[in-house]
Amino acid sequence: MSWQRKSLRRRLLLWLLGALAVISALMLFEVRSSATKAANEAYDRVLLGSALAIAERVVVVGDTLEVDVPYVALEMLTSAAQDRVFYQVIGPEKQFITGYNDLPVVSEEEIPINGAPLFFDANYRGDAIRVGAISRHLSGGRISTRFTVMVAETVGGRSRLIREMMTAAIVRQLVLIFVAGIVMWIGIGWGLKPLLRLEAALNRRTPSDLRPIEHEVPREVRHLIDAINDLMHRLEASFGAMQRFTSNAAHQLRTPLAAIQTQAELAIDETNPEETRKRLEHLSRSTKQTSRLINQLLSLARANQAGTTQIGESFQSPKIDLKRVCEQVTREFVPLAVDKDIDLGFESLNGPFSINGNRELIEEALKNLIDNALNYCPKGATVTVRLRNMQGKILLEVEDNGPGIVQSERSKIFERFYRSETRDDEGCGLGLPIVREIMECHGGAVEYRSGPNDSGSCFVLSFFDN
Ligand SMILES: Nc1ncnc2c1ncn2[C@@H]1O[C@H](COP(=O)(O)OP(=O)(O)OP(=O)(O)O)[C@@H](O)[C@H]1O
Ligand SMILES: [Mg+2]
Repeated sequence: MSWQRKSLRRRLLLWLLGALAVISALMLFEVRSSATKAANEAYDRVLLGSALAIAERVVVVGDTLEVDVPYVALEMLTSAAQDRVFYQVIGPEKQFITGYNDLPVVSEEEIPINGAPLFFDANYRGDAIRVGAISRHLSGGRISTRFTVMVAETVGGRSRLIREMMTAAIVRQLVLIFVAGIVMWIGIGWGLKPLLRLEAALNRRTPSDLRPIEHEVPREVRHLIDAINDLMHRLEASFGAMQRFTSNAAHQLRTPLAAIQTQAELAIDETNPEETRKRLEHLSRSTKQTSRLINQLLSLARANQAGTTQIGESFQSPKIDLKRVCEQVTREFVPLAVDKDIDLGFESLNGPFSINGNRELIEEALKNLIDNALNYCPKGATVTVRLRNMQGKILLEVEDNGPGIVQSERSKIFERFYRSETRDDEGCGLGLPIVREIMECHGGAVEYRSGPNDSGSCFVLSFFDN
Protein backbone atom coordinates (compact mmCIF):
# COMPACT_ATOMS: atom_id res chain seq x y z
CA MET A 1 0.00 0.00 0.00
CA SER A 2 1.46 3.39 -0.96
CA TRP A 3 1.82 5.94 1.84
CA GLN A 4 -0.89 8.16 0.30
CA ARG A 5 -3.45 5.42 0.92
CA LYS A 6 -2.48 4.74 4.53
CA SER A 7 -4.85 5.83 7.26
CA LEU A 8 -4.72 9.59 7.76
CA ARG A 9 -5.20 9.07 11.48
CA ARG A 10 -2.24 6.68 11.68
CA ARG A 11 -0.05 9.02 9.59
CA LEU A 12 -0.82 12.03 11.78
CA LEU A 13 -0.20 9.98 14.90
CA LEU A 14 3.15 8.70 13.62
CA TRP A 15 4.28 12.23 12.77
CA LEU A 16 3.26 13.60 16.15
CA LEU A 17 4.78 10.70 18.08
CA GLY A 18 7.98 10.98 16.02
CA ALA A 19 8.27 14.66 16.90
CA LEU A 20 7.54 13.88 20.55
CA ALA A 21 10.22 11.16 20.60
CA VAL A 22 12.85 13.56 19.21
CA ILE A 23 11.93 16.19 21.83
CA SER A 24 12.08 13.54 24.58
CA ALA A 25 15.53 12.40 23.45
CA LEU A 26 16.79 16.00 23.61
CA MET A 27 15.27 16.38 27.06
CA LEU A 28 16.98 13.17 28.25
CA PHE A 29 20.35 14.66 27.23
CA GLU A 30 19.56 17.66 29.37
CA VAL A 31 18.42 15.44 32.26
CA ARG A 32 21.69 13.52 32.05
CA SER A 33 23.86 16.61 32.34
CA SER A 34 21.85 17.99 35.27
CA ALA A 35 21.90 14.58 37.00
CA THR A 36 25.71 14.46 36.62
CA LYS A 37 25.97 17.97 38.00
CA ALA A 38 23.70 17.18 40.99
CA ALA A 39 25.51 13.91 41.79
CA ASN A 40 28.92 15.61 41.61
CA GLU A 41 27.79 18.43 43.88
CA ALA A 42 26.54 15.97 46.52
CA TYR A 43 29.54 13.63 46.38
CA ASP A 44 32.13 16.41 46.05
CA ARG A 45 30.93 17.90 49.32
CA VAL A 46 31.79 14.65 51.15
CA LEU A 47 35.12 14.53 49.28
CA LEU A 48 35.87 18.06 50.44
CA GLY A 49 34.92 17.24 54.07
CA SER A 50 37.31 14.36 54.01
CA ALA A 51 40.16 16.48 52.56
CA LEU A 52 39.55 19.19 55.17
CA ALA A 53 39.65 16.61 57.98
CA ILE A 54 43.05 15.39 56.75
CA ALA A 55 44.34 18.95 56.33
CA GLU A 56 43.43 19.63 59.97
CA ARG A 57 45.86 16.91 61.01
CA VAL A 58 48.91 18.23 59.17
CA VAL A 59 51.45 19.57 61.63
CA VAL A 60 54.99 20.95 61.54
CA VAL A 61 57.50 18.81 63.34
CA GLY A 62 60.91 20.44 63.28
CA ASP A 63 61.40 21.47 59.69
CA THR A 64 59.15 18.82 58.20
CA LEU A 65 55.43 18.23 57.84
CA GLU A 66 53.73 15.27 59.42
CA VAL A 67 50.21 13.93 59.15
CA ASP A 68 48.22 11.70 61.36
CA VAL A 69 45.49 10.64 58.91
CA PRO A 70 42.18 10.31 60.73
CA TYR A 71 40.72 7.15 59.31
CA VAL A 72 37.27 8.32 60.20
CA ALA A 73 37.76 10.96 57.47
CA LEU A 74 38.14 8.24 54.85
CA GLU A 75 35.47 6.19 56.53
CA MET A 76 32.82 8.79 55.73
CA LEU A 77 33.60 8.28 52.06
CA THR A 78 33.64 4.50 51.98
CA SER A 79 30.46 4.25 54.00
CA ALA A 80 28.59 6.11 51.23
CA ALA A 81 29.09 3.37 48.65
CA GLN A 82 31.30 0.47 47.78
CA ASP A 83 33.82 2.85 46.29
CA ARG A 84 37.53 2.73 46.91
CA VAL A 85 39.17 5.76 48.47
CA PHE A 86 42.68 7.17 47.94
CA TYR A 87 44.47 10.13 49.41
CA GLN A 88 47.77 11.90 49.20
CA VAL A 89 49.42 14.72 51.08
CA ILE A 90 52.27 16.56 49.37
CA GLY A 91 54.45 19.31 50.65
CA PRO A 92 56.27 22.06 48.79
CA GLU A 93 57.86 21.11 45.45
CA LYS A 94 55.66 18.03 45.16
CA GLN A 95 57.43 16.41 48.08
CA PHE A 96 55.42 13.29 48.94
CA ILE A 97 54.42 13.14 52.59
CA THR A 98 51.88 10.36 52.90
CA GLY A 99 49.14 8.40 51.11
CA TYR A 100 49.19 6.83 47.66
CA ASN A 101 52.23 8.26 45.94
CA ASP A 102 51.13 7.26 42.41
CA LEU A 103 47.88 9.26 42.43
CA PRO A 104 47.64 11.62 39.45
CA VAL A 105 49.51 14.70 40.56
CA VAL A 106 48.08 18.17 40.39
CA SER A 107 50.45 21.11 40.39
CA GLU A 108 50.17 23.59 43.20
CA GLU A 109 49.46 26.47 40.82
CA GLU A 110 46.24 24.85 39.60
CA ILE A 111 44.70 24.84 43.08
CA PRO A 112 43.16 28.17 44.06
CA ILE A 113 45.23 29.80 46.81
CA ASN A 114 42.17 31.27 48.48
CA GLY A 115 41.44 27.86 50.01
CA ALA A 116 38.73 26.88 47.56
CA PRO A 117 38.86 23.21 46.50
CA LEU A 118 39.66 21.89 43.02
CA PHE A 119 37.73 18.90 41.71
CA PHE A 120 38.59 16.95 38.60
CA ASP A 121 38.06 13.57 36.92
CA ALA A 122 41.00 11.27 36.30
CA ASN A 123 41.99 7.66 35.81
CA TYR A 124 43.79 5.62 38.44
CA ARG A 125 44.82 1.98 38.19
CA GLY A 126 42.33 1.48 35.37
CA ASP A 127 39.36 2.99 37.23
CA ALA A 128 37.66 6.33 36.73
CA ILE A 129 38.13 8.46 39.81
CA ARG A 130 37.04 11.84 41.06
CA VAL A 131 39.71 13.87 42.82
CA GLY A 132 39.23 16.70 45.31
CA ALA A 133 42.28 18.80 46.17
CA ILE A 134 42.81 21.65 48.63
CA SER A 135 45.87 23.69 49.36
CA ARG A 136 46.65 25.08 52.81
CA HIS A 137 49.34 27.27 54.34
CA LEU A 138 51.04 26.20 57.58
CA SER A 139 53.64 27.86 59.75
CA GLY A 140 55.21 26.63 62.92
CA GLY A 141 58.65 26.00 64.36
CA ARG A 142 61.19 27.17 61.87
CA ILE A 143 59.16 26.86 58.69
CA SER A 144 56.24 28.40 56.96
CA THR A 145 55.03 26.42 53.95
CA ARG A 146 52.12 25.25 51.73
CA PHE A 147 50.89 21.71 51.39
CA THR A 148 48.24 19.99 49.26
CA VAL A 149 45.76 17.33 50.32
CA MET A 150 44.16 15.22 47.59
CA VAL A 151 41.35 12.79 48.29
CA ALA A 152 39.98 10.62 45.48
CA GLU A 153 37.31 7.99 45.14
CA THR A 154 36.09 5.71 42.38
CA VAL A 155 32.92 6.95 40.75
CA GLY A 156 30.66 3.88 41.22
CA GLY A 157 28.33 5.66 43.67
CA ARG A 158 27.95 8.69 41.45
CA SER A 159 27.33 6.59 38.34
CA ARG A 160 24.69 4.59 40.16
CA LEU A 161 22.92 7.78 41.27
CA ILE A 162 23.01 9.20 37.72
CA ARG A 163 21.73 5.89 36.33
CA GLU A 164 18.83 5.86 38.78
CA MET A 165 17.90 9.44 37.92
CA MET A 166 18.09 8.66 34.20
CA THR A 167 16.00 5.49 34.52
CA ALA A 168 13.30 7.45 36.36
CA ALA A 169 13.39 10.16 33.65
CA ILE A 170 13.17 7.62 30.79
CA VAL A 171 10.21 5.86 32.43
CA ARG A 172 8.54 9.25 32.89
CA GLN A 173 9.07 10.14 29.21
CA LEU A 174 7.77 6.78 27.98
CA VAL A 175 4.62 7.11 30.07
CA LEU A 176 4.21 10.64 28.72
CA ILE A 177 4.58 9.49 25.08
CA PHE A 178 2.14 6.62 25.68
CA VAL A 179 -0.49 8.88 27.26
CA ALA A 180 0.07 11.52 24.54
CA GLY A 181 -0.38 8.80 21.89
CA ILE A 182 -3.75 7.77 23.35
CA VAL A 183 -4.91 11.38 23.66
CA MET A 184 -3.82 12.14 20.08
CA TRP A 185 -5.48 8.99 18.72
CA ILE A 186 -8.77 10.03 20.31
CA GLY A 187 -8.27 13.71 19.35
CA ILE A 188 -7.50 13.00 15.70
CA GLY A 189 -10.51 10.67 15.48
CA TRP A 190 -12.64 13.42 16.93
CA GLY A 191 -11.17 15.95 14.50
CA LEU A 192 -11.95 13.67 11.52
CA LYS A 193 -15.56 13.12 12.60
CA PRO A 194 -16.97 15.84 10.27
CA LEU A 195 -15.57 13.86 7.33
CA LEU A 196 -17.33 10.69 8.49
CA ARG A 197 -20.58 12.63 8.87
CA LEU A 198 -20.08 14.02 5.36
CA GLU A 199 -19.47 10.50 4.00
CA ALA A 200 -22.68 9.24 5.66
CA ALA A 201 -24.66 12.19 4.24
CA LEU A 202 -23.31 11.57 0.71
CA ASN A 203 -24.10 7.86 1.01
CA ARG A 204 -27.70 8.72 1.84
CA ARG A 205 -28.14 10.75 -1.36
CA THR A 206 -29.93 9.43 -4.42
CA PRO A 207 -27.97 9.41 -7.72
CA SER A 208 -30.02 12.31 -9.08
CA ASP A 209 -29.47 14.48 -6.02
CA LEU A 210 -26.79 16.90 -7.21
CA ARG A 211 -27.47 19.68 -4.70
CA PRO A 212 -24.31 21.36 -3.40
CA ILE A 213 -22.86 19.96 -0.17
CA GLU A 214 -23.56 22.38 2.64
CA HIS A 215 -22.16 20.47 5.60
CA GLU A 216 -20.04 22.17 8.21
CA VAL A 217 -16.51 20.90 7.56
CA PRO A 218 -13.07 21.90 8.83
CA ARG A 219 -11.43 24.76 6.94
CA GLU A 220 -8.80 22.40 5.47
CA VAL A 221 -11.52 20.37 3.72
CA ARG A 222 -13.50 23.41 2.52
CA HIS A 223 -11.53 23.66 -0.76
CA LEU A 224 -12.18 20.01 -1.51
CA ILE A 225 -15.91 20.51 -0.87
CA ASP A 226 -15.90 23.61 -3.11
CA ALA A 227 -14.30 21.56 -5.90
CA ILE A 228 -16.88 18.77 -5.43
CA ASN A 229 -19.71 21.33 -5.45
CA ASP A 230 -18.31 22.81 -8.62
CA LEU A 231 -18.25 19.37 -10.22
CA MET A 232 -21.84 18.73 -9.02
CA HIS A 233 -22.87 22.00 -10.62
CA ARG A 234 -21.31 21.05 -13.95
CA LEU A 235 -22.80 17.56 -13.76
CA GLU A 236 -26.22 19.04 -13.12
CA ALA A 237 -25.84 21.32 -16.13
CA SER A 238 -24.69 18.47 -18.32
CA PHE A 239 -27.49 16.15 -17.09
CA GLY A 240 -29.98 18.93 -17.80
CA ALA A 241 -28.60 19.41 -21.31
CA MET A 242 -28.73 15.67 -21.92
CA GLN A 243 -32.33 15.47 -20.72
CA ARG A 244 -33.34 18.40 -22.91
CA PHE A 245 -31.59 16.84 -25.88
CA THR A 246 -33.23 13.44 -25.33
CA SER A 247 -36.70 14.90 -25.05
CA ASN A 248 -36.05 17.13 -28.10
CA ALA A 249 -34.82 14.16 -30.08
CA ALA A 250 -37.84 12.07 -29.03
CA HIS A 251 -40.13 14.90 -30.02
CA GLN A 252 -38.40 15.33 -33.38
CA LEU A 253 -38.64 11.62 -34.07
CA ARG A 254 -42.31 11.49 -33.13
CA THR A 255 -43.35 13.96 -35.84
CA PRO A 256 -42.06 12.09 -38.93
CA LEU A 257 -43.08 8.74 -37.43
CA ALA A 258 -46.64 10.02 -36.90
CA ALA A 259 -46.60 11.28 -40.51
CA ILE A 260 -45.43 7.86 -41.72
CA GLN A 261 -48.22 6.17 -39.78
CA THR A 262 -50.90 8.54 -41.14
CA GLN A 263 -49.67 8.23 -44.73
CA ALA A 264 -49.56 4.45 -44.45
CA GLU A 265 -53.12 4.28 -43.06
CA LEU A 266 -54.40 6.61 -45.80
CA ALA A 267 -52.61 4.56 -48.47
CA ILE A 268 -54.22 1.36 -47.17
CA ASP A 269 -57.70 2.91 -47.40
CA GLU A 270 -57.10 4.55 -50.79
CA THR A 271 -58.70 2.89 -53.78
CA ASN A 272 -57.59 5.35 -56.45
CA PRO A 273 -54.15 4.12 -57.74
CA GLU A 274 -52.97 7.68 -58.50
CA GLU A 275 -53.80 8.84 -54.93
CA THR A 276 -52.18 5.70 -53.53
CA ARG A 277 -48.98 6.51 -55.43
CA LYS A 278 -49.00 10.05 -54.02
CA ARG A 279 -49.47 8.72 -50.49
CA LEU A 280 -46.62 6.26 -50.98
CA GLU A 281 -44.35 9.05 -52.29
CA HIS A 282 -45.20 11.05 -49.18
CA LEU A 283 -44.49 7.98 -47.08
CA SER A 284 -41.12 7.55 -48.76
CA ARG A 285 -40.21 11.21 -48.09
CA SER A 286 -41.13 10.90 -44.42
CA THR A 287 -39.11 7.72 -44.13
CA LYS A 288 -36.11 9.45 -45.70
CA GLN A 289 -36.52 12.34 -43.27
CA THR A 290 -36.65 9.97 -40.28
CA SER A 291 -33.64 8.12 -41.51
CA ARG A 292 -31.78 11.44 -41.97
CA LEU A 293 -32.74 12.48 -38.44
CA ILE A 294 -31.50 9.22 -36.97
CA ASN A 295 -28.22 9.50 -38.89
CA GLN A 296 -27.72 13.08 -37.73
CA LEU A 297 -28.47 12.09 -34.12
CA LEU A 298 -25.89 9.32 -34.36
CA SER A 299 -23.30 11.71 -35.83
CA LEU A 300 -23.93 14.17 -33.03
CA ALA A 301 -23.58 11.43 -30.42
CA ARG A 302 -20.31 10.30 -32.07
CA ALA A 303 -18.93 13.86 -32.11
CA ASN A 304 -20.03 14.33 -28.53
CA GLN A 305 -18.32 11.15 -27.41
CA ALA A 306 -15.17 12.12 -29.30
CA GLY A 307 -15.17 15.38 -27.38
CA THR A 308 -15.13 13.59 -24.05
CA THR A 309 -12.98 10.55 -24.77
CA GLN A 310 -10.88 10.89 -27.89
CA ILE A 311 -8.95 14.05 -27.17
CA GLY A 312 -5.44 13.11 -26.14
CA GLU A 313 -5.91 9.51 -27.29
CA SER A 314 -6.54 8.87 -30.96
CA PHE A 315 -5.84 12.55 -31.77
CA GLN A 316 -2.24 11.74 -30.97
CA SER A 317 -2.40 9.46 -34.04
CA PRO A 318 -0.54 10.30 -37.29
CA LYS A 319 -1.39 13.61 -38.88
CA ILE A 320 -4.04 13.78 -41.55
CA ASP A 321 -3.73 15.74 -44.77
CA LEU A 322 -6.73 18.09 -44.92
CA LYS A 323 -6.19 18.77 -48.62
CA ARG A 324 -6.75 15.13 -49.54
CA VAL A 325 -9.80 14.94 -47.26
CA CYS A 326 -11.36 18.05 -48.88
CA GLU A 327 -10.64 16.89 -52.43
CA GLN A 328 -12.19 13.51 -51.77
CA VAL A 329 -15.33 14.80 -50.01
CA THR A 330 -15.91 17.51 -52.62
CA ARG A 331 -15.56 14.92 -55.38
CA GLU A 332 -18.24 12.77 -53.71
CA PHE A 333 -20.71 15.67 -53.91
CA VAL A 334 -20.03 16.56 -57.57
CA PRO A 335 -22.79 14.32 -59.03
CA LEU A 336 -25.37 15.85 -56.65
CA ALA A 337 -24.15 19.37 -57.53
CA VAL A 338 -24.42 18.59 -61.25
CA ASP A 339 -27.96 17.32 -60.62
CA LYS A 340 -28.85 20.60 -58.97
CA ASP A 341 -27.02 22.65 -61.56
CA ILE A 342 -24.64 24.09 -58.97
CA ASP A 343 -20.98 24.77 -59.69
CA LEU A 344 -19.06 22.99 -56.90
CA GLY A 345 -15.30 23.47 -56.82
CA PHE A 346 -12.28 23.04 -54.57
CA GLU A 347 -9.21 25.27 -54.28
CA SER A 348 -6.25 25.34 -51.94
CA LEU A 349 -4.10 28.42 -51.50
CA ASN A 350 -0.93 28.12 -49.43
CA GLY A 351 -0.12 24.96 -47.44
CA PRO A 352 0.84 22.92 -45.52
CA PHE A 353 -2.50 21.49 -44.43
CA SER A 354 -1.68 18.66 -42.05
CA ILE A 355 -3.37 18.49 -38.66
CA ASN A 356 -3.80 16.01 -35.85
CA GLY A 357 -7.39 14.91 -35.87
CA ASN A 358 -10.04 12.35 -36.52
CA ARG A 359 -10.48 11.92 -40.26
CA GLU A 360 -14.06 10.55 -40.14
CA LEU A 361 -15.27 13.42 -37.95
CA ILE A 362 -13.71 16.08 -40.16
CA GLU A 363 -15.23 14.46 -43.22
CA GLU A 364 -18.59 14.52 -41.43
CA ALA A 365 -18.29 18.24 -40.68
CA LEU A 366 -17.36 19.09 -44.26
CA LYS A 367 -20.17 16.92 -45.66
CA ASN A 368 -22.70 18.82 -43.53
CA LEU A 369 -21.45 22.18 -44.80
CA ILE A 370 -21.42 21.14 -48.50
CA ASP A 371 -24.81 19.47 -48.03
CA ASN A 372 -26.25 22.71 -46.63
CA ALA A 373 -24.77 24.80 -49.46
CA LEU A 374 -26.19 22.45 -52.11
CA ASN A 375 -29.56 22.32 -50.31
CA TYR A 376 -30.06 26.01 -49.69
CA CYS A 377 -28.54 27.53 -52.85
CA PRO A 378 -30.67 27.92 -55.97
CA LYS A 379 -29.81 26.59 -59.42
CA GLY A 380 -26.81 28.22 -61.05
CA ALA A 381 -25.14 29.04 -57.72
CA THR A 382 -21.44 28.55 -57.09
CA VAL A 383 -20.09 26.67 -54.06
CA THR A 384 -16.39 26.75 -53.30
CA VAL A 385 -14.50 24.62 -50.78
CA ARG A 386 -11.29 26.46 -49.99
CA LEU A 387 -8.23 25.65 -47.84
CA ARG A 388 -5.66 28.19 -46.71
CA ASN A 389 -2.93 28.38 -44.10
CA MET A 390 -2.68 31.66 -42.24
CA GLN A 391 0.27 31.85 -39.85
CA GLY A 392 -0.15 28.42 -38.32
CA LYS A 393 -3.93 28.52 -38.51
CA ILE A 394 -5.54 26.34 -41.18
CA LEU A 395 -8.82 27.69 -42.50
CA LEU A 396 -11.31 25.45 -44.27
CA GLU A 397 -14.02 27.55 -45.90
CA VAL A 398 -17.27 26.50 -47.60
CA GLU A 399 -18.51 29.54 -49.46
CA ASP A 400 -21.60 29.97 -51.60
CA ASN A 401 -23.39 32.81 -53.31
CA GLY A 402 -26.83 31.57 -52.27
CA PRO A 403 -29.45 33.35 -50.15
CA GLY A 404 -27.22 33.66 -47.06
CA ILE A 405 -28.57 33.76 -43.54
CA VAL A 406 -30.32 36.82 -42.17
CA GLN A 407 -28.60 38.64 -39.32
CA SER A 408 -31.27 37.70 -36.75
CA GLU A 409 -30.77 33.97 -37.37
CA ARG A 410 -27.00 33.87 -37.37
CA SER A 411 -26.75 33.40 -33.61
CA LYS A 412 -29.26 30.54 -33.64
CA ILE A 413 -28.13 28.32 -36.51
CA PHE A 414 -25.62 26.47 -34.29
CA GLU A 415 -28.35 25.52 -31.79
CA ARG A 416 -29.61 21.97 -31.93
CA PHE A 417 -32.83 21.46 -33.95
CA TYR A 418 -32.90 25.08 -35.09
CA ARG A 419 -34.14 25.47 -38.66
CA SER A 420 -34.96 28.62 -40.49
CA GLU A 421 -38.70 29.21 -40.32
CA THR A 422 -38.85 29.70 -44.06
CA ARG A 423 -37.67 26.10 -44.61
CA ASP A 424 -40.18 23.35 -45.10
CA ASP A 425 -37.83 20.88 -46.77
CA GLU A 426 -36.25 17.79 -45.19
CA GLY A 427 -33.75 18.64 -42.56
CA CYS A 428 -33.55 18.33 -38.82
CA GLY A 429 -31.46 21.29 -37.68
CA LEU A 430 -28.53 19.19 -36.48
CA GLY A 431 -25.97 19.72 -39.26
CA LEU A 432 -24.34 22.88 -37.90
CA PRO A 433 -24.43 21.74 -34.22
CA ILE A 434 -22.58 18.59 -35.36
CA VAL A 435 -19.97 20.77 -37.11
CA ARG A 436 -19.52 22.90 -33.98
CA GLU A 437 -19.16 19.83 -31.74
CA ILE A 438 -16.55 18.32 -34.06
CA MET A 439 -14.59 21.56 -34.18
CA GLU A 440 -14.65 21.92 -30.40
CA CYS A 441 -13.25 18.46 -29.87
CA HIS A 442 -10.42 19.37 -32.28
CA GLY A 443 -9.64 22.50 -30.31
CA GLY A 444 -10.79 24.57 -33.27
CA ALA A 445 -13.86 26.68 -34.05
CA VAL A 446 -16.54 27.28 -36.65
CA GLU A 447 -17.91 30.68 -37.57
CA TYR A 448 -20.33 32.17 -40.03
CA ARG A 449 -19.30 35.00 -42.33
CA SER A 450 -21.09 36.64 -45.19
CA GLY A 451 -20.24 35.28 -48.60
CA PRO A 452 -18.56 37.26 -51.45
CA ASN A 453 -19.97 40.75 -52.03
CA ASP A 454 -22.02 40.40 -48.85
CA SER A 455 -24.31 37.86 -50.45
CA GLY A 456 -24.36 34.16 -49.74
CA SER A 457 -22.76 32.38 -46.82
CA CYS A 458 -19.28 31.40 -45.86
CA PHE A 459 -18.70 28.88 -43.05
CA VAL A 460 -15.11 28.96 -41.79
CA LEU A 461 -13.55 26.09 -39.86
CA SER A 462 -10.29 27.05 -38.16
CA PHE A 463 -7.77 24.41 -37.09
CA PHE A 464 -4.54 25.09 -35.33
CA ASP A 465 -1.55 23.64 -37.13
CA ASN A 466 -0.07 21.18 -34.60
N1 LIG B 1 -25.30 27.57 -46.82
C1 LIG B 1 -26.44 27.98 -46.29
N2 LIG B 1 -27.16 28.94 -46.88
C2 LIG B 1 -28.31 29.37 -46.34
N3 LIG B 1 -28.83 28.91 -45.18
C3 LIG B 1 -28.14 27.97 -44.53
C4 LIG B 1 -26.92 27.45 -45.05
N4 LIG B 1 -26.48 26.54 -44.18
C5 LIG B 1 -27.36 26.47 -43.18
N5 LIG B 1 -28.36 27.30 -43.37
C6 LIG B 1 -29.53 27.52 -42.48
O1 LIG B 1 -29.17 27.07 -41.19
C7 LIG B 1 -30.14 26.14 -40.73
C8 LIG B 1 -29.49 25.09 -39.89
O2 LIG B 1 -28.64 24.25 -40.67
P1 LIG B 1 -28.33 22.80 -40.20
O3 LIG B 1 -27.40 22.16 -41.15
O4 LIG B 1 -27.93 22.88 -38.79
O5 LIG B 1 -29.72 22.07 -40.20
P2 LIG B 1 -30.51 21.53 -41.42
O6 LIG B 1 -29.69 21.64 -42.66
O7 LIG B 1 -31.80 22.26 -41.44
O8 LIG B 1 -30.75 20.03 -41.02
P3 LIG B 1 -29.74 18.82 -41.09
O9 LIG B 1 -29.53 18.41 -39.69
O10 LIG B 1 -30.43 17.79 -41.88
O11 LIG B 1 -28.50 19.31 -41.74
C9 LIG B 1 -30.79 25.59 -41.95
O12 LIG B 1 -32.12 25.22 -41.70
C10 LIG B 1 -30.73 26.76 -42.91
O13 LIG B 1 -31.86 27.60 -42.74
MG1 LIG C 1 -27.81 20.81 -42.80
